[in-house]
Amino acid sequence: MRSGLLLLAVLSAVSAGAYDNVKYPAHDCPGYNVNNIVNSADNSGFTADLYLAGSPCNIYGIDIQNLTLTVSVEKGNKLSVLIEDRDKKQFQIPPNVVQLNQESNLDSFADLTFKHTVDPKTGFGFQILRGSDAIFDTFGYPLVFEDQYIELTSRIPHNANIYGMGETPDYFKRDNSNSTKTIWARDAGDPFRQNVYGSHTVYMENRGGKFHGAYMHNSHGMDIVMVYDTIQYRMLGGVIDMSFFGGPSAYDVINSYTDFVGRPNKIPYWVLGLHNCRWGYQNIDEVDQVIANYSKANIPLEVMWIDIDSMEGFKDFTFDPVNFPLPRIQNTYKNLHEKNQKLVMMVNPAIQRNSSYGPYTRGLEQNTFVKNLDGSTYIGEVWPGYTAYPDWFAANTTSWWHSEFQRFYNDIPLDGVWVDMNEASSFCIGSCGSNVPEDVIPEYPWEAANPLPNRPLDKSNLLLNPKYAIHNGYSEISEKGIETIAIHANGVQEYHVHNLYGHMMTQTTHSFLEAFRPNVRPFLLSRSTFAGTGRYANHWNGDNNSDWFQLHISIPSMLDFGIFGIPFVGSDICGFFSNTTEQLCNRWVELGAFYPFSRVHNAKGNIPQELYRWDSVAESARIAYNIRYQLLPYYYTNFYTASTIGSPVARPLTFEFPADTNLFNNDLQFMVGESILISPVLFENATSVDAYFPGSTIWYDWYTHSGFYGQSKNVTLDAPLNHINVHIRGGSIIPTQDPAMTVEATIASNFTLIIALDDDSTASGSLYLDDGISVVGSSSLINFSTDGESLVLDGSFGYHVDNYITKVIMMYPCGTPENPSFSVDTIDCVEISLNSKSTTELFSS
Ligand code: GLC
Repeated sequence: MRSGLLLLAVLSAVSAGAYDNVKYPAHDCPGYNVNNIVNSADNSGFTADLYLAGSPCNIYGIDIQNLTLTVSVEKGNKLSVLIEDRDKKQFQIPPNVVQLNQESNLDSFADLTFKHTVDPKTGFGFQILRGSDAIFDTFGYPLVFEDQYIELTSRIPHNANIYGMGETPDYFKRDNSNSTKTIWARDAGDPFRQNVYGSHTVYMENRGGKFHGAYMHNSHGMDIVMVYDTIQYRMLGGVIDMSFFGGPSAYDVINSYTDFVGRPNKIPYWVLGLHNCRWGYQNIDEVDQVIANYSKANIPLEVMWIDIDSMEGFKDFTFDPVNFPLPRIQNTYKNLHEKNQKLVMMVNPAIQRNSSYGPYTRGLEQNTFVKNLDGSTYIGEVWPGYTAYPDWFAANTTSWWHSEFQRFYNDIPLDGVWVDMNEASSFCIGSCGSNVPEDVIPEYPWEAANPLPNRPLDKSNLLLNPKYAIHNGYSEISEKGIETIAIHANGVQEYHVHNLYGHMMTQTTHSFLEAFRPNVRPFLLSRSTFAGTGRYANHWNGDNNSDWFQLHISIPSMLDFGIFGIPFVGSDICGFFSNTTEQLCNRWVELGAFYPFSRVHNAKGNIPQELYRWDSVAESARIAYNIRYQLLPYYYTNFYTASTIGSPVARPLTFEFPADTNLFNNDLQFMVGESILISPVLFENATSVDAYFPGSTIWYDWYTHSGFYGQSKNVTLDAPLNHINVHIRGGSIIPTQDPAMTVEATIASNFTLIIALDDDSTASGSLYLDDGISVVGSSSLINFSTDGESLVLDGSFGYHVDNYITKVIMMYPCGTPENPSFSVDTIDCVEISLNSKSTTELFSS
């Protein structure tokens, strides 16, 4: 049933005192009045005019006198509020850049209503109500709408449980006592609570066990501030284009959000294996050696990555003729493929300024680079020295980029592409190097010995130095990026579209990969992302440090990207910057083996940390990847679900147990899907873990199958060095396979079903099967359920497999379920009758 939109004009209903209580902002802006309300024909929304209620305050820009308000309740459990300038001069994200789904296939309409007021002191305000609960409430806070500053404030409950917004290395639950999330894509090595690579303005709140979400569709730099029980957006331009998602489960919110901005890409199966990378391999011999050593150590390496080291002078699409000659890389690629392993290499956006370098000269000819205001090419500085930057808005950039990739892929048709430095990063501030002769190519431009040719900041230029200073980690917003006055082909300056750069690079690269291998799922990893990037690419959490705190923060960083619609994510295992230690690497691989994206990566200059380097780490890796590989069909099924309804694969406990107030802050553990709980060691020298087990559920130990009832409190678990605590949630049926040295070999093996009964003797689960690589093809989605006596399979059975379920392991609590004792007996391999409703294909005869 479609709920109508409740329009209420509550004139003067709000006490002026509400705003007085707010100790900020330190301005006295007049707010807006409302006029000319027009209901839409089907009464599902309305438009209205807003006009400035008093003299302009012009705090950080020029107040815009006339605005238009459009409110609509839409399919997809969504209510949207658009407040734009009447003259539409403010920048709005072009619809082809972030393709919002305005025609949702989700049946549900939001159980949300919109209410507005005009307060005599603060003007127009609105509430989004779920029942009587205002989930977003601007009453009493004046709207400020200026050309370079928009301020929108909503009241939130004291100590609200808010998640999302970033990309920011932080605890999972956002600090609402006084904190700022700054949205401005930045190349920075994971500093705590500062803005880094990606730009995501969606948040979710758990309010009394029910979730809702809000997304601000705006590409400008902004601060999202939480203080004095409010959440306040301070945006450097654009418009207010907000969507509210009614939930009430966390997965309902993410379903609605990813339905709107784009579903996560369907990953190829092989990416679920173990990946190894490092920056600083000397030559292809070393790469070959690493691959061989993994196999010698019996650690299942699936994918080898090669960083910028293979490039000639760090130039994209080239091969170092001495250390990484192309024929040798081709040979490595061939050898990997013969063993069903894969190769991924790197491409950065910055193109060396060099008139004998084809990608540059062809780019110039085809007018594909970002420009200075005088029409000359904007030059920054990255690994290859002075560089031009592809302008993804320019008419010929897609065809130029595709043809450069085509040449590259003719040389080496990689299994996947890693796009990096796409914030876009530059080591100098401002267009630099145009006076430096072309043959002067600094070998290591980032070293202090070669001072960066930074220009002095023109403080009077409001695009370089906006009056409202967001809390960017660098003092200037142009630092380490393309200068904000540089201009794109659509006439828009970098200031407005900076946060979209990485997203657009993934779009353009993804469309090449789709064209190159039709019907093969592309695999793309990107450092910078925006709302909707999950359609095209996946993510790793960038340049972390090899330390214990970053080991912990890798969990919330991963969970955040589940909210952002990019569930295939993980952090560099054993840490990127600085030397790791044997113990840290042990604990990191135990945790990292369960990240959706499980990759070891290391920075140049550090001690090697491939997983075979220490015996103890190799042992931890073998144990942890043995479990992960058993769980491959379970991971894959969860990724199938992610690509259809968005639900994250790595999940915070508060999403699974929303009513449990002890879980609001928990980011020391996480779940894989709904059935597997991971409780890693995150502290140095610890040999036990205090892990929380939600109540009313039986938890079975992965290794021993011993079980206990969760009591909604911490349990101390043994965690000797090689042991990662993994628990199975009662009520689950988990398809597993026999772990082998590759994904291919693992998924060719027979299935074992793990049935872990809950205390009502039931369990259920599912298994998705297809060929693991095609975009279009046959598939099966099999649902399992049991009441403890019979096992029922139903669903769709379109994909034929030659492997069977040959083993069923059942665990169940002996004795009565009412028995309050915590520990229960378990039994393996219990014979249960199989009542296959629709097929016997999966069972051996
Ligand atoms: C950036 C990337 C890192 C990579 C390095 C060299 O720092 O984040 O992963 O190894 O560049 O390409």
